[in-house]
Amino acid sequence: MSPQNEQWSSRYGFVLATIGGAVGLGNIWRFSYVAGENGGAAFLFIYLACVFLIGVPLMIAELAIGRRAQGDAISAFETTGKTSRWRGIGWLGIVTAVLLLSYYAVIAGWALRYAVGAVTGTLWRAAQANYGGYFKQFVSQPVDPLIWQGAILAITIFIVSSGVRQGIERLNRLVVPVLAVLIIVLAGYSLSLPGSGAGVRFFLAPDWDALRNPEVYAAALGQAFFTLSLGMAFFVTYGSYMPRTFSVPASAMIVALGDTLFAIISGLAIFPAVFALGGNPAAGPELAFVTLPQVFLKMPAGVFVGSVFLLLLAAAAITSMVALIEIPVSAMIRRTSLSRRGATIVMGGSVFVLGIPSALGYGVLSHVRIGSHGILDAIDFGVSSFLLPVAGVLTALYVGWRLNRTMILNETDFGTRRIGVVWLWLIRILVPVAILGIFIRTLWAS
Ligand code: PFF
Repeated sequence: MSPQNEQWSSRYGFVLATIGGAVGLGNIWRFSYVAGENGGAAFLFIYLACVFLIGVPLMIAELAIGRRAQGDAISAFETTGKTSRWRGIGWLGIVTAVLLLSYYAVIAGWALRYAVGAVTGTLWRAAQANYGGYFKQFVSQPVDPLIWQGAILAITIFIVSSGVRQGIERLNRLVVPVLAVLIIVLAGYSLSLPGSGAGVRFFLAPDWDALRNPEVYAAALGQAFFTLSLGMAFFVTYGSYMPRTFSVPASAMIVALGDTLFAIISGLAIFPAVFALGGNPAAGPELAFVTLPQVFLKMPAGVFVGSVFLLLLAAAAITSMVALIEIPVSAMIRRTSLSRRGATIVMGGSVFVLGIPSALGYGVLSHVRIGSHGILDAIDFGVSSFLLPVAGVLTALYVGWRLNRTMILNETDFGTRRIGVVWLWLIRILVPVAILGIFIRTLWAS
């Protein structure tokens, strides 16, 4: 049994912490540009299918084995199956989380830098009409991006050192409700701008032709994994601090719905404003840092709205970084003699060093190209298009075929209910086949 401070204090605290771990840069920065690049509404449709038919069943599987094992990501794949042959999936999750965190911290650092600049006013004064140049100048410096990457990691280390209940849960209880209110207010404001209808149509009116494009499926699946935090042993880890009395399927459904609503409402905050004020919705990764500040400057009360948006982006990034670092930290505490504080500092330091190439990839190291990608882009591509789907397939196969059927139906709280059988067959067949199908199709096309 975990010590007191290493368990969620209530169902509410657990759900908020888990939503905080799921809602992050992926919902605001990544979702908006990936949706923008892939035709908006057509993408949205496939994305929703991926979330509810592939994402939720996998989330249930991860939570169930985490809660059952009450241990770290590695032991969850050992103790539940009575063989250690599958524990590599746990290792894969941990390695992927560390890799993802290495570049996530860089982008989160940009968000923090922009948020601080917006509040103090330097952002608005320095940039005026030229945000493209401003962004390029900032990300290409040799030291500045590292300072902000280090700063946001330091905040993360401070919170995670304070423990599951006192640190992680407390942060999310404070931040997640505020995020929810702010994003709804921002969307309302954006929708009220004259000319916002075109943005709503771009985002919500389906373009069925796009369904014929295989790239849209791969982008939607990658985004679903990224935004729901799947394939990284995140739910295994947070599930291990979950008492038996919390329902697994209900928790998974609430988290998936919360995360999806957050992404859609972010889209409704971003696209109507971009269209109303003449920005480019398919600007790519620069959307949040170049296009949006330009849009804010043209809005009534834009400096205030823009500051709120950027603070929101930084806060959402921090709750996700906390979740990401907790995955290896939880394994280190349970497997080594390090204290929580020691493990968090060691991990935070390692992630910082590992992220340096990504942070410098727009300046000093901009000549390094991997295929057509820069360093950060290449790692993101490898993680979201390769490592996450592979971990997803392996988890589905392990839970669906390797574990005892009665045991896993009990552990997921489905028991003998018929919906449990539906879940089991989704995990056994649909989830692995759909992921592999999209995966092979993408490899074929590239
Ligand atoms: N889901 C987060 C986002 O959308 O930004 C990213 C993430 C957080 C992935 C935590 C994995 C994780 F364990």
